[in-house]
Amino acid sequence: MTKDKILVIGACGQIGVELTLALRKIYGASNVIASDLREENPLLHGSGPYVSLDVMNKEMLHVQVIRQGVTQIYLLAAILSATGEKNPGLAWHLNMQGLLNVLDIAREEKLHKVYWPSSIAVFGPTSPRKNCPQKTIIEPTTVYGISKYAGEFWCNYYFNKFGVDVRSIRYPGLISYKSAPGGGTTDYAVEIYHEALEAKHYDCFLQKDTYLPMMYMPDAIRATIELMEAPADRIKTRTSYNLSAMSFSPEEIATEIKKHIPEFTITYTPDYRQSIANSWPQSIDDSVAREEWGWKHEYDLARMTEDMLENLRNKAE
Ligand SMILES: NC(=O)c1ccc[n+]([C@@H]2O[C@H](COP(=O)([O-])OP(=O)(O)OC[C@H]3O[C@@H](n4cnc5c(N)ncnc54)[C@H](O)[C@@H]3O)[C@@H](O)[C@H]2O)c1
Repeated sequence: MTKDKILVIGACGQIGVELTLALRKIYGASNVIASDLREENPLLHGSGPYVSLDVMNKEMLHVQVIRQGVTQIYLLAAILSATGEKNPGLAWHLNMQGLLNVLDIAREEKLHKVYWPSSIAVFGPTSPRKNCPQKTIIEPTTVYGISKYAGEFWCNYYFNKFGVDVRSIRYPGLISYKSAPGGGTTDYAVEIYHEALEAKHYDCFLQKDTYLPMMYMPDAIRATIELMEAPADRIKTRTSYNLSAMSFSPEEIATEIKKHIPEFTITYTPDYRQSIANSWPQSIDDSVAREEWGWKHEYDLARMTEDMLENLRNKAE
């Protein structure tokens, strides 16, 4: 069996840091190369090889893939939903061209596998709001959602036309304590824990009854690795998989936090992100992922809150 050499692009972001560390545990530190446009995240420092790399520079990317003997790429570099609305042209350019560069190189160099995440942002106001199914009406209204939906079909195309084994998950909002979130509409669900511990108060940029699909990072990392390690014949969906763990509102997460920090208070000052949130489903039906490759989540709101607060407290000490 050939030894895999993995390149993680966008390794310094919210998901990249934890995914890189998890992959290094499985494949060995020297076999997982972290790369990003920005400086190496201190959490990755000393844990394995790091290269500075711009996914938009296809030639340099290609050279690195050949030079390092890369056999798998995890592409995480993207501009997220809230930031994307501020700069639609840049978001489209990076989210599309970055993916096409990676898919082309994967085809030319016959890479074993590619991972590229999509998002619940592919869904729009005409999609079912509750238990949104895998296949349904998909009419995204944000540039981020449009780029993710187009990207899903590029993945499907490269799989069908060129046999590139590319796999994808439509992540819900991801909550983590290690690396900071990167400009998404669900970032409030990370900020609220920090503010609950530091200021005992949080002013939320979404209304109190805004339900959104969410997932704790350990579940998201496990899902990603389980999808990538599943036998190819079980991966029947080559656009992107719905994936779900929990759905809650700002009011509900605040109530859960109060069980641990009784003096915590919350206010609501909705901004431009409210309309993005309103265009997305409140919950997701992920039965296809559960059937095809055995996905099962572990964390609900109560368990996640306990773990988040404990880890953030430990970090502060
Ligand atoms: N975090 C979430 O809640 C969430 C939800 C759904 C989907 N996703 C998707 O998961 C992926 C990773 O998300 P994240 O939250 O870790 O994002 P992030 O913004 O935290 O990290 C992205 C990383 O990509 C890097 N990057 C940007 N431009 C680059 C370039 N040209 N070349 C190389 N690197 C570049 C950034 O420096 C950053 O470190 C994205 O595709 C995102 O759309 C995330």
